[in-house]
Amino acid sequence: MASVLACIVALLCFKRSKASPTASPRACVELEVPVSIDTTAIKWLQPRVDSNVDAVDWVANATTWTSPNMTESMIGTITVRQTFKINGQLCVPPKGSKRSDILHLATHGGGFDKRYWDPEIKTKEYSYVEAALAEGYSVFTYDRIGTGKSDKPDAYDIVQLNVQREILRKLTSLARSGKLVSASKNLSGIRQTDNRLNNYKPSKIVHVGHSLGSILSIGLIQNYPTESDGVIATGFLHTNVQLGGLNVATWGFEFARQNNPILFKDHGSGYCVQATPSNVQLQFLKKGTFEPALLDYAWKVRQPVAVSEFKSLLTAFGPDGAKFKGPVHMVIGENDYGNCAGDCKGTYDLDMIKTQIYPAAKDVGVLIQPGTGHGLALSKNATAGYRVSFDFLHKSGL
Ligand SMILES: *[C@@H]1O[C@H](CO)[C@@H](O)[C@H](O)[C@H]1NC(C)=O
Ligand SMILES: *[C@@H]1O[C@H](CO)[C@@H](O)[C@H](O)[C@H]1NC(C)=O
Ligand SMILES: *[C@@H]1O[C@H](CO)[C@@H](O)[C@H](O)[C@H]1NC(C)=O
Ligand SMILES: *[C@@H]1O[C@H](CO)[C@@H](O)[C@H](O)[C@H]1NC(C)=O
Repeated sequence: MASVLACIVALLCFKRSKASPTASPRACVELEVPVSIDTTAIKWLQPRVDSNVDAVDWVANATTWTSPNMTESMIGTITVRQTFKINGQLCVPPKGSKRSDILHLATHGGGFDKRYWDPEIKTKEYSYVEAALAEGYSVFTYDRIGTGKSDKPDAYDIVQLNVQREILRKLTSLARSGKLVSASKNLSGIRQTDNRLNNYKPSKIVHVGHSLGSILSIGLIQNYPTESDGVIATGFLHTNVQLGGLNVATWGFEFARQNNPILFKDHGSGYCVQATPSNVQLQFLKKGTFEPALLDYAWKVRQPVAVSEFKSLLTAFGPDGAKFKGPVHMVIGENDYGNCAGDCKGTYDLDMIKTQIYPAAKDVGVLIQPGTGHGLALSKNATAGYRVSFDFLHKSGL
């Protein structure tokens, strides 16, 4: 009887991960966060994508050496003044956890949505959300615009990296003010008396990114160095001599709506998606360090990328990184294909990163995760990598 009661209480208190009964209980709320942006985007010279034929042509165009370069493709500016609906999930660790006032605000990369951080299969072995909660942190994950359950605005004029960076900035300030939950539409029930979620107000925010999400997190500290307390940039490496601007040709893109008219019915012109599981493997996973089930999962949760996200990669960055005082940890798979042409060893200069890029940072570190591809959170041994980042943060009091 007592155990039945305990179970009912547990069900009321915590939303369990459906597919993973072994996952630890967690207190989470799913939110629809309204985020108002007033910024300037760029009109890019690029072909339109309304079919698979167009998608291949767009890739060819972007990589043809005689095509207009980045500066030449900037043919105008666009005012972006609107409110986006952002779908996010806030989770707090079990009561009494000593780091619950430190929020990990995680931004996923291209090809995924927030489910990248929290696979519904083998949660204990792969989920960043699970690992961070177990470490006593709170975690907020969200779907970037153009993905998941967030708005999917114009793929040419709106879904660009400086717009995404401004959204990250707004989410950060909303979280810091303690109004993340009260300002949002509550999409999942949480217990009335559990005010840890309703009034959650972090004292510190660590920005965690994967790939494009790392570019946004780094872009945040390079534009607003006082608005973050620390960064874990995964699938990202400063001064990487092999970085060819995230080579679009290796993605294997098709027009999202033609690739799967049901899955991508809300994605209009200009949204591309990886065509096959083999494309996902080449971009994200390395044979020997991934389980087939995780490739299946990656394929199942795949998400489109807007063409202008690639055009605008560099617009996320800013001039003030040297003023950032928190710790910066970069984590990259040893065999990251897109970023390091398959071998990251010896492709970067840590001294240069410390002295030239982040001279004021409390600490700067690089972890090369052995034998792993670009999709770190979906690769074997993922949690051992998280452990290294957490220990890195602890050294700086986070
Ligand atoms: C790429 O596309 C742009 C826009 O349509 C066009 O102006 C440019 O000439 C194209 N480049 C090549 C090499 O086809
Ligand atoms: C792009 O081309 C223009 C003119 O051909 C040149 O002045 C500029 O330096 C180039 N920009 C980049 C980023 O390569
Ligand atoms: C969210 O919804 C649940 C269930 O309706 C409710 O118990 C809870 O108080 C709500 N939280 C907020 C912040 O509105
Ligand atoms: C797992 O990851 C940790 C942290 O990077 C590393 O020290 C360890 O060698 C890895 N194990 C294997 C089998 O690659």
